Parts: sequence; structure tokens; C-alpha cells
Amino acid sequence: MDTNHTESVVDSLSIFEEEVLKGLLATNKSLPSKYFYDAKGDELFQQIMHLEEYYLTNKELEIFTSHKQGILETISNGEPFRIIELGAGDGLKTKILLKHFMDCSVDFTYTPVDISGNVLEILERSLFEELPELNIESYQGDYFDALSEISSRPEKDIVFFLGSNIGNFSHEEAVSFLSNLRGHLKSSDMLFMGVDLKKDPSAILSAYNDSKGVTREFNLNLLDRINSELDADFNRENFMHYPYYNPQTGECRSYLISTIEQDVHVAGELVHFRAWEAIFMEISKKYDEVQLKELAEQTGFQIVRSFQDEKNWFSDVVWVNP
Ligand code: AVJ
Repeated sequence: MDTNHTESVVDSLSIFEEEVLKGLLATNKSLPSKYFYDAKGDELFQQIMHLEEYYLTNKELEIFTSHKQGILETISNGEPFRIIELGAGDGLKTKILLKHFMDCSVDFTYTPVDISGNVLEILERSLFEELPELNIESYQGDYFDALSEISSRPEKDIVFFLGSNIGNFSHEEAVSFLSNLRGHLKSSDMLFMGVDLKKDPSAILSAYNDSKGVTREFNLNLLDRINSELDADFNRENFMHYPYYNPQTGECRSYLISTIEQDVHVAGELVHFRAWEAIFMEISKKYDEVQLKELAEQTGFQIVRSFQDEKNWFSDVVWVNP
């Protein structure tokens, strides 16, 4: 067991190194945003979720609070079911629904899935305190490993993928992720997914360019992480954070831009930056109804219904595997 653990750490370190070098040595430089979330990154993302300008969390919270009964009626036909939440985090929003379902004496099991055992432990502890009667069976590990193992059981599965996490995928990546996900579901299993909608571009841009500079720090933190874990010498002073929203594609993209010509050493390789050369850091894609309909069609899901906040800024969609 211990040996396995050590192996997987070494393994994931070399994958980290491989992906970082691949991104930095490409013609158009990029870094994978999934690596934002080390301990410091988790903390910064928590801060982002509390920013006034980062509306996403509050909008989804509003949807859950005002539509909890409608959501229950849409996902449940009275038979026992299981909620599998991919990337559960602190479960703050999900708890609103869990609490309502418990109040209605619904027969269900909650399976939070997260790559971080630490996150799951904290979540389990708080749920045990707040909802002691809840059936909880958490799963630590990869999303698709979890789905392979869990969805072979007889009860109906509802996969929760909240908070616009789907936005971190390009269109092609989203299609392959959701097709793959559907491949792990039984007929009548459902997807309950939070997506951020197209809206006034200035509101979107502010969410990723907050006045306190927390999002800037969140991006720069990945350079710090690469410095400490991959023996690199990025000087964050020489990079500026630049988010950009394209209202046609719905893609909000974040860049770190080298303000000078410079060389950086990363894991024994030399990475050259021309002045004003950019590293593409993250995509946070915004959808509209037409794009969502297309995405469902391309991935073989059938749209059941969706829930929006008052201002139509955010949507939770319910799709079924026919
Ligand atoms: C966690 C992927 C939903 O893209 O809005 C927040 C991450 N990045 N601020 C998003 C994020 C910059 C967030 N997601």
C-alpha cells in the first residue's frame, strides 16, 4: 500500500513535468490549468469564490435555493438513487440540495468523488455533523475510475458536475469528456451540470480580472509551483496576467504574458520568451442555449430540463442517457 502510494506520487510528478515542458516548449506556449490546485491554489480558489465579482458560485447557490423541489422532482421518480459528485470540493452548494432531500425523506446515497483525500475527509466530517443521517460513500481518485466502479451497481445514478467546471474544457475536450462520461452510465442515468451562460462581457471579464488581484495571484501561483516542484526559476515580476473574453465563442481565456525577453530554466530545459510572448493558462467557457443543445446532441445525451437564476446568468442542466 505504502509502495503504491509512493509510486503514484513519483508517477504524477513525472506526468506533471512532462505536461509542463510540453506546454512551455510548444510554439504557442500553454500550461494546464488543472495544476492550479496545489494547497496554495485551493486556498486562492476559495478566496475567488468569495469575491463579489466572481458571481458563479452565488448564482448556482441561488438556483439551488429557489429550485430545490423542482430539481428533486426532475432527478427522482421515487426509487432509490445515488448522487455521484465529480470534484466535490467543500460541498457548500450541494449541501442545500442534500439537506432538502433529507427533509423530504428521500432514499439516496451521496458519493462525492475527488482526487484529494484531504478535501474528502473535511467534507465527510462536516456532513456527518450537519446531516448525520445522510448515506455517504466517498470515492478518492480519478473521475472515470470512480464511474467505472460505481455505475455498475443497480440503482439509478445522477452525476453532478457543478460550478461550471465543464468551462475548463475547449469544445472538443468537452465533447470527448461528456461522451466518455455517458459511456459509463446506464440507460436513464442522468447528468446534472452547472454551466456559466453568456452575458454582458464586462461582467464576465471582471470575474476573471478581479480588483483585489486574487485571480492574478491564482495564475502566478502555478509559476511558483513549477519553481518549487520542478526546479525552475520563473520570476513572477516579469509576467503580467491578462484575461480576455471572446463574446462570439464564449471563451474567456487567461494568459500570463512575459513583459521582457527572458530565459527560464525548467527541469533542466531552457525556455526562451520573446518580449510580450504569452502563456495560455486557462479557458473558462460560457455557453448559450444553442451551444448547449449542440453539446448534448454531440455527446448522445437528451435534454430533460434546466434551472436558471433570476438574471439568467447561470444554468444547471439536467440531461439523461437515453
Ligand atoms: C473552477 C473552473 C469553474 O473557470 O470559473 C476561477 C476556475 N479560474 N477563476 C472557472 C477559475 C479563475 C473556475 N472553475
